[in-house]
Amino acid sequence: MALRAKVLGTGRAVGPTQLTNEDLTRIVDTTDEWIVSRTGIRNRFIARPEDGVCTSDLCAEAARKALAAAGLEASQLDLILVGTVTGDCKFPSTATFTQAKIGASNAAAMDISAACSGFVYGLELANALIQSGVKRHVLLIGAEVLTTMVDWEDRGTCVLFGDAAGAVVLGPSDDDTGVLSTYTKSDGNLADLLWAPGCGSLRRLSPQSLENKDHLIHMKGRHVYVHAVRCMADATQQAMDLAGLQPADVDLLVPHQANIRIIEATCERFGFPMEKTMVNVDRYGNTSAASIPIALDEAVELGRITKGQVALLTVFGGGFTWAAAAVRL
Ligand code: ACO
Repeated sequence: MALRAKVLGTGRAVGPTQLTNEDLTRIVDTTDEWIVSRTGIRNRFIARPEDGVCTSDLCAEAARKALAAAGLEASQLDLILVGTVTGDCKFPSTATFTQAKIGASNAAAMDISAACSGFVYGLELANALIQSGVKRHVLLIGAEVLTTMVDWEDRGTCVLFGDAAGAVVLGPSDDDTGVLSTYTKSDGNLADLLWAPGCGSLRRLSPQSLENKDHLIHMKGRHVYVHAVRCMADATQQAMDLAGLQPADVDLLVPHQANIRIIEATCERFGFPMEKTMVNVDRYGNTSAASIPIALDEAVELGRITKGQVALLTVFGGGFTWAAAAVRL
């Protein structure tokens, strides 16, 4: 049996500027009470245009921390995968910019486009490549500067998002630790419930597309909410089944941090107590592909999950895409 991938180190980085609910009340017609009661979000960190921080800057910072935690040099990496839908530019990939910034001169690099699910999709890919022996050390990052796509006049979306990157370094496991299962799924029929339709080949960049705000996030929140609850339950069940786990075998649930009500619904469905669930949506908001790896890194830092324990990662995002993975740390 080929060696599964294990997590050798984790790291995170967030946008340099803090944005509280109070700050948002000066931008749109909203209140702290509305945002907290509907989403659980109190604060987020963003990269403003004047901060001069792009997605690969956050990736590089998170990657350096993950490499240090793993005790590896950047030159030992064989592959860099970045899950993102808000990269530095259309091409080349944010992974290649990250490679240059950290000096990973022996690696291949590419991006994965699966919206919020990009990190868990990348975990499945990295695990398969490590198990097959095609790659040995993989740097996997989830990163977004989503505020580049936020409509600051739309109070239904602009209060939700933050900018961040979370990184893990993966390598072959020689014991019972590592990726126990992965599950990935998508449904492209529902793309227009959550998307940024402009600036590509579908609706080309034009004065009209800019005026329509086609390049910004459009979301039907209620519909997304319903699908998120259903699909995260599906993914969670599938990942546990594939790993032969019961909810009681999971030491820490690390759900996508979009909304506290979606997290609570997932916990309720499986009987996960909130004490065994990582929550940081209050401090970071929804950071899309970065959400799970920054929650995982913080969980490791806080000792919420330790070596030998099982984390269950579960996510839902635009596409729609959804995914889950069971990982023994
Ligand atoms: N402040 C005050 N009022 C607001 C705000 C706000 N920030 N945003 C919307 N409202 C108002 C609306 O205008 C509406 O007013 P009306 O009834 O007078 O028309 C009212 O609140 C209800 O609006 P809804 O959009 O129906 O509010 P809902 O209760 O569904 O909450 C929310 C909105 C929080 C976006 C919710 O639908 C949700 O969490 N959806 C999941 C979407 C999500 O998390 N997306 C992120 C990306 S996908 C992912 O990561 C899973």
